[in-house]
Amino acid sequence: MNTTTLTGLELRPLAVPADVSELETPAGHDFATMMDVRNRVYFEISGHHDESMSAAELLPHYQPNPDEIRFMWVAILDGEFVGRAGIDIPLEEGSKTAFWQIELLRKSWGKGVGSAAYELLENKAREHGRTVLQSWASHPAADGVEQIEPPTGFGSIPDDHAAHFYKRHGYSLEQVERNSAFDLRGSFEIVERLLAEATAAAEGYRVVQWEPPTAEEYVAGYAWMKSRMSTDAPSADLEFDEEVWDAERIARHDALWTDAHQFVLVTAAQHIATGELCAFNELVVGKDRAEASHQEDTLVLKEHRGHKLGMLVKCAGLVKWRELVPHSPRVLTYNAEENRPMLDINEAIGFTPIAYGGAWKKVLE
Ligand SMILES: CC(C)(COP(=O)(O)OP(=O)(O)OC[C@H]1O[C@@H](n2cnc3c(N)ncnc32)[C@H](O)[C@@H]1OP(=O)(O)O)[C@@H](O)C(=O)NCCC(=O)NCCS
Repeated sequence: MNTTTLTGLELRPLAVPADVSELETPAGHDFATMMDVRNRVYFEISGHHDESMSAAELLPHYQPNPDEIRFMWVAILDGEFVGRAGIDIPLEEGSKTAFWQIELLRKSWGKGVGSAAYELLENKAREHGRTVLQSWASHPAADGVEQIEPPTGFGSIPDDHAAHFYKRHGYSLEQVERNSAFDLRGSFEIVERLLAEATAAAEGYRVVQWEPPTAEEYVAGYAWMKSRMSTDAPSADLEFDEEVWDAERIARHDALWTDAHQFVLVTAAQHIATGELCAFNELVVGKDRAEASHQEDTLVLKEHRGHKLGMLVKCAGLVKWRELVPHSPRVLTYNAEENRPMLDINEAIGFTPIAYGGAWKKVLE
């Protein structure tokens, strides 16, 4: 048990049940409560439920895995669950990075809970020899609050409570991220026109689509593209390890979705002459197919840029998605505010900004 110097606060390591069947038992109580509080915190920040997840959906992400160590604590203040704090330690060789989050219900803010949790997280990072600490937060639009800009010069966020918290703990804002939504219930006329244009421009390539688990014939190409995601996405001064992806990692990644009964469509562009996979896009929805969908990774390999493959995989994915998941109302996506090529595609398709977030970084001495 971790108790802290703040009176009435307990930061308790999260007990992770091995299986969903335990969620209803005392062994699963903390996990189930953690999920409920997580979803309430997200709702308090965004005003919508599109980021909600069920305990069964998140549970696979907390099972031991060889790609990272994941620590999490629940914050209990005067006997009441008020939030959670967690840190991920990637296990890529030579990694110096760690990624963390603290999420507290609003009624517990400003009492030192976040600072106590942060001390625990920073100590954990140091124990693992990590010196580059990074974290993301949503910074909802706030009238009358001064805006702050990252060194990229793209976008800004309000200098709000979370921003104060980061700065007070030695963090600087590195990047602004835009959260956009696409209405799946509206007209698809533009998407269909853009798909036709991209198909015409992408001569020599064809679209292939699959639902995980990934078929043998696509595993190697998909693994290579996933590894490029860690090196090629615009990252400002943030630091990411180059990830190594092999068939086993693809299988583990696919299982995170399939074990949770989520539905996923991967849309890729294949170079016809060589069979190489050159671009991809992932769409995901929860076990409840009527919830909002999420756009996960999108990437065009550097050597294949300039053939409208980004537009091709995005539009082909959306058209198929509407057919396969007809009750999902919208797709949410997150992009770096300086990622013009990706934003150009999303804006043309009809994604509209709904919120902004900040990416924060601290380098430990
Ligand atoms: C950002 C967040 C983690 C901060 O947590 P918090 O508990 O409010 O932070 P603290 O209470 O430790 O510090 C905030 C303020 O309270 C003050 N404070 C600290 N200890 C205190 C105490 N014992 N009594 C009263 N005030 C205290 C701090 O001095 C600080 O004031 P300042 O802003 O003037 O510097 C929390 O607001 C939150 O969960 N937000 C939503 C999710 C989010 O954005 N997370 C960001 C990281 S992922």
